[in-house]
Amino acid sequence: MNPTDNPMVSGNYTPLGKVYLVGAGPGDPGLFTLKGKGLLEHADVVVYDALVSPQILGMINPQSEKIDAGKRRGNHSRLQEETTQLLIEKAQTNAIVVRLKGGDPFVFGRGGEEMEDLVRAGISVEVVPGVTSGIAAPAYAGIPLTHRLYSSSVTFVTGHEAAGKYRPKVNWTAIAHSSETIVIYMGLHNLSYIIAELNSAGLSLDTPVALIRWGTRPEQSELIGTLATIVTQVEAAQFEAPAIAVIGNVVKLRDILGNREESFEF
Ligand SMILES: C[S@@+](CC[C@H](N)C(=O)[O-])C[C@H]1O[C@@H](n2cnc3c(N)ncnc32)[C@H](O)[C@@H]1O
Repeated sequence: MNPTDNPMVSGNYTPLGKVYLVGAGPGDPGLFTLKGKGLLEHADVVVYDALVSPQILGMINPQSEKIDAGKRRGNHSRLQEETTQLLIEKAQTNAIVVRLKGGDPFVFGRGGEEMEDLVRAGISVEVVPGVTSGIAAPAYAGIPLTHRLYSSSVTFVTGHEAAGKYRPKVNWTAIAHSSETIVIYMGLHNLSYIIAELNSAGLSLDTPVALIRWGTRPEQSELIGTLATIVTQVEAAQFEAPAIAVIGNVVKLRDILGNREESFEF
């Protein structure tokens, strides 16, 4: 599509800058990429998401314009199209516009959709990957996602089925049959449904489950159980999002690999 034909491009079309779609990682600032840090230090505008950690927001050049993508006047949250429109406008008048997202932008972060809209609007875009929470949170909990004795396959899946209008519906039966480790993003609210689906597909109720909340941050907390027990444990502990769920025998390794000493501070 010619950018001037795109309804998202307003007025005179004179894009000056470039949008960098940057993954901020899961929270520990030591896991942020050098490329991302360099961009924050030189950005004219940074549009950031709620899950970006305060230490990483602290790396933004004080001269930059900082915009919380989740907020707009009246405390309503900004719609996806409004965020894209904002990025297009900012790129028309600024050289370096950073779109900062938690984890990796292309893993359940709508980075693909945002980048597509920007490309269609004729804006230069570059993606800078980040460490995704589905890998980092289990690692910090002492859970390797694959292991020669326990798992040769891993699936990353969203538990947020309400988002089905944006994505194909999750086939839990296929996942139960094909993957030895299942890593679920945004799965807390749908946990009992997901467990029922996996169990009716043949996954034993003894299968270990780990939930990791605020992974890699100082406030990281974990809940360990089985398919049979975890929902009751979540209710009892009032365990809340954001959390990653890991299902599979690799969770057993946490007994040996978990409880690490103080982490090296970046
Ligand atoms: C919209 S998704 C964004 C995922 C992100 N793009 C990534 O790669 O990590 C939000 C979900 O990611 C997971 N998440 C993000 N950061 C997390 C963290 N530090 N600890 C545990 N889960 C996290 C939670 O499941 C949360 O509900």
